[in-house]
Amino acid sequence: MNNIKVGIEKISLYVPKSYIDVAKLAETRGVDPNKWTIGIGQIKMSLIDKYQDIVTMGANAASQILSDIDKEEIAQVIFATESGFDYSKASSTYIHELLSINKYAKSYEIKQACYSTTAALQIASDHVRLRPQEKILIISSDIAKYGPNTGGEVTQGAGAIAILISSQPKILEITDQSSSITVNAYDFWRPSYSEVPMVDGKYSTQIYIDIFKDLINRFDEKYKDLDQVDAFLFHLPFAKMGKKALIGYKTELEEDNRDLTNVDRWLEKYEPTTILCRQIGNLYTGSLYLSLISYLAYGQVQPGQKLGLFSYGSGSVAEIFTAIVGQDFQDNIDIKFIEDMLDKRDEVSPMTYDQTYFDNMYTEKKDASNLTPENFTGYYLEKVEEDKRTYGFKK
Ligand code: CAA
Repeated sequence: MNNIKVGIEKISLYVPKSYIDVAKLAETRGVDPNKWTIGIGQIKMSLIDKYQDIVTMGANAASQILSDIDKEEIAQVIFATESGFDYSKASSTYIHELLSINKYAKSYEIKQACYSTTAALQIASDHVRLRPQEKILIISSDIAKYGPNTGGEVTQGAGAIAILISSQPKILEITDQSSSITVNAYDFWRPSYSEVPMVDGKYSTQIYIDIFKDLINRFDEKYKDLDQVDAFLFHLPFAKMGKKALIGYKTELEEDNRDLTNVDRWLEKYEPTTILCRQIGNLYTGSLYLSLISYLAYGQVQPGQKLGLFSYGSGSVAEIFTAIVGQDFQDNIDIKFIEDMLDKRDEVSPMTYDQTYFDNMYTEKKDASNLTPENFTGYYLEKVEEDKRTYGFKK
């Protein structure tokens, strides 16, 4: 292992302009709103707009952070998603052109449910350890749609995170500590013929908790320094999921008469990790990194603190790794920009949502024209003709 520090130099978030109020949707569904707002922990849910797809959301996230020099130094563009619209051509190829990344950067798409951004992060970190002059752009973009009247409906969402990995980890240095696991499970999956995922909701929450317990014990045996981990961040399909995992772990520690100091500290620091998730919902593979932005913006964070991160992708692959908060993290997280973007969203009523939202699934837009939005700035999907997508940009 060389001494080169690598990690997140820049990070940004993009959410579409539409959202639905979770309490109002609960009432429409005949569910007690407290179940969804308190029991699950969600307040608002981002909805993908007709003129957006995973490519435009990714481009709108990445364009916030990339300088012209970054675009020259990027060696790879990795697109992490489980909402792909093409079995062959990678979504990164569109992003590469839209953002004018240098043409000698390679680009590709990767998938393993909500785990794939972490796979990209580790690939990128190892690449930069070997080639410190180069940068890697990771785009994480997803549309979480379970369908109307489904158990998972309250855990939908849409949005993108862009991450620039380099040898200037101003926001977060990625350490080489890592424990990972693969378990072949059917907790959540989407066969290629289906617009919506198949999900065994109760099993999915249980396997998430069990895998967290398995991995944290393994990590502890391997590194024996959990007392150094100041806070734990989780993949959050909904705000309460990470807390359920911590409580599951705490119960196991109590049964074994083991020390609770670490888990109690992580539980105490949990709430700020969930603030953005409550307002946006599930970003699938971006969700862990949404928790990271949330914690860096709203937590009691100091440079040099060590964080534990739990990445979980149904199916299932998971990883616990650690990272050190960078010296300049505060100057590089633009929470004012994020809060403005969230405040300026347009509310969609449950009736409009029921009438229109599920026409617009992953493989929709086989043919579409005149998608150009009004009162919008940024990248958008203009049309789909002869199975080809054309994108536009509005200043
Ligand atoms: N007031 C307050 N709380 C209430 C309440 C009320 N009136 N009524 C119920 N609750 C509480 C319950 O006590 C429960 O709390 P605990 O979890 O702390 O016990 C909570 O609300 C949820 O209640 P239920 O378990 O009865 O809810 P449900 O049957 O509707 O299912 C779910 C919840 C399984 C998460 C479902 O929304 C689902 O299937 N979601 C999609 C799958 C998912 O997100 N799985 C997570 C792990 S998999 C993963 O992480 C990958 C991924 O991104 C999908």
